[in-house]
Order: sequence, then C-alpha cells, then structure tokens
Amino acid sequence: MTLQVASNANQAPALFTKYIAPIEHTPRTYASEGYVLPSDEQERQRLLFSLLALRLVLQHNVLKAAFGNRVLLAPLPAVEDLKVLECGTGSGIWLLDLATELKGNFHGFDIESRLFPRNAPGNLFFTMNSVTRMPEWWAESYGLVHQRLLLAALNAYQWKEAINEMYRVLIPGGSVQLGEAGPWKSGSVTEKHQTLVQNLFESRGLLLDCAVHIPQMLSNAGFIEIKTEVKTIPLGRWAGQTGIDGRDNFMGVFRGMKTPVLKMGGLGFVQSEAEFDRLLDEVEVEWDATPGSEIEFFIFTAQKPLSSAL
Ligand SMILES: C[S@@+](CC[C@H](N)C(=O)[O-])C[C@H]1O[C@@H](n2cnc3c(N)ncnc32)[C@H](O)[C@@H]1O
Repeated sequence: MTLQVASNANQAPALFTKYIAPIEHTPRTYASEGYVLPSDEQERQRLLFSLLALRLVLQHNVLKAAFGNRVLLAPLPAVEDLKVLECGTGSGIWLLDLATELKGNFHGFDIESRLFPRNAPGNLFFTMNSVTRMPEWWAESYGLVHQRLLLAALNAYQWKEAINEMYRVLIPGGSVQLGEAGPWKSGSVTEKHQTLVQNLFESRGLLLDCAVHIPQMLSNAGFIEIKTEVKTIPLGRWAGQTGIDGRDNFMGVFRGMKTPVLKMGGLGFVQSEAEFDRLLDEVEVEWDATPGSEIEFFIFTAQKPLSSAL
C-alpha cells in the first residue's frame, strides 16, 4: 500500500479531489472529523440497553477469544501499586475485563466520554484526553499502557506522537500493549471493498497498514523487547459461530464508514447510499460463502528500559 499522508489530516490529497462531491444521506455523528468510525449516542444507548448486542463488547469478545481468552499479553513490572492506563478506551471494556484479573488502579481515557461506563468499580476511572498529548504530570506514572484499534483515528505523525507519549508516561521497566487489525481477505467483492477502505484511509492520511509500522515506531521511541503475536479471525457463516461473531463485528465496523465514504463522494466506488449498502451486503454474502475469509489481528508488546543509559 502506498502511504500518502495529507498535510492536513482533514484535507483530501490531490488524488481524490476529482471525486469529492458529497452524497446526501442521514449521517451518524462522529467524535471528530479525522476519525472514521461512529461513536455516538446511538452506540451509547445500545451499551445501556443491550450490552450483548453492542459492537464494542462483541469486538472485545471476538478478539479475546482469538488470543486464547487472554486480555493481557505484556509482562508486568514488579511493583506493588500497579497503575494501568488505557488510551482510546471507548466503553472501557478491555480495562473492565483486566480489572477482574489484576489488582491495581485502572485509568482509561478517550476524546469522547459518552461510552464511558457509568458504574465502574472504585479502582477504575475515566478521563477525557488525547493520546497524542497527555498531561505533563503523567510522566513516569504507569506500569502498563494499553491501546487497541486506533487505526481509524491516527495519521502517521499522530502515531509517532502517541507512541512517544506512551513511552513518556510509563515507569522505567513498564510495558506497552497495542492491538491493531491487519488485512482481510475473501473474494473479489472483498478485494474491491478493501481498496475502497484503503482509499478512504489514504484520503485522511490514516495508516490502514499501521501494523506493519508499529514495531519500528516502538523501536524509534526507545522501546525494547518488542514482540508481535498475530492471529487470524474467521469471517462468515462457513466458520460457525466464531465466523458469525467475527463477521457481525467487522461488518459493523465497515458499515460504520458509510458517512465518511459518502462525504468523499463515494471515492469513485459507489454513487449513492443505496450502492454503498449494496456493496456491503455483497461483502457479507461473500464472507458467508467463502471458506478462508478472514482478517488478521496483531498484538504488539514492548518495554521501556529500566535504565535509559543502556
Ligand atoms: C474503535 S474504538 C476502540 C475502543 C477500545 N479501544 C476498544 O478496543 O474497545 C476507538 C476509540 O478511540 C477513540 N479515539 C480516537 N482518537 C483518539 C485520540 N486522539 N485520543 C484518545 N482516544 C481517541 C475514539 O473516540 C474511540 O472511542
């Protein structure tokens, strides 16, 4: 994939300007213009009234199952009062789950607060911050920093800022754990759809292939002991309930990109809202009918050296 970073993340590179005539439809609201997934009241309501149906909960369960029911892959530093930080926490589902396994203090933050859990236990708290610029006074405070699925939110420069910030807020010997989706495959409709998503990401300067770059970015920031685990998640009915769960989650992700795609005039792939919906319906049918349809998911772990003099 050619990386094309827009000088302004909200501005389309020249390649796409000929397509930009927004297609009228009823948009959902978005946390920020640079972020291409929905995070709105509709999702908040679904969290309150139907936890099992919530895509972020389903997503957490799908990812946890793919990694052998583990939420934590990173080693923990030998400290008595462990402090855990989660960047882009969303509904806090990962942090809530980890808090059932570990003793410590758990802090999640996000640029959007509407999905924060209302009745979290007393050792969990949530704040509004951006991963690209955390408060100065968080320096060397946390034993573990986690971030999952911000690929639709960060451009190349913001990735660098975010990873440098994670390094700064970790104590020496602390660990980072990052989880990101990779490429997906099925048949020809999926190939077309993947190109559409790639073009959407490129038009916003986002890194769809961030998983390729993360190990180097971690190393550049000063992290050591960089490790990668990758699992494939089956997509579609052919793989039984696991495939249905994977399909429902990732179809939810991709259907949620409708507004950004239509705002960009369909990026040369679709001419109307109905055409977008039809394309996504066809992707879903293809996944159901094509054994081997799957998406890769990566978890990276790394450590801040005990001494920077090493
Ligand atoms: C796909 S959701 C993932 C939520 C959660 N990490 C999970 O795995 O369930 C991405 C989240 O990142 C948040 N986000 C986007 N840009 C951010 C930024 N610069 N700093 C912090 N959070 C951000 C969004 O508001 C959204 O809640």
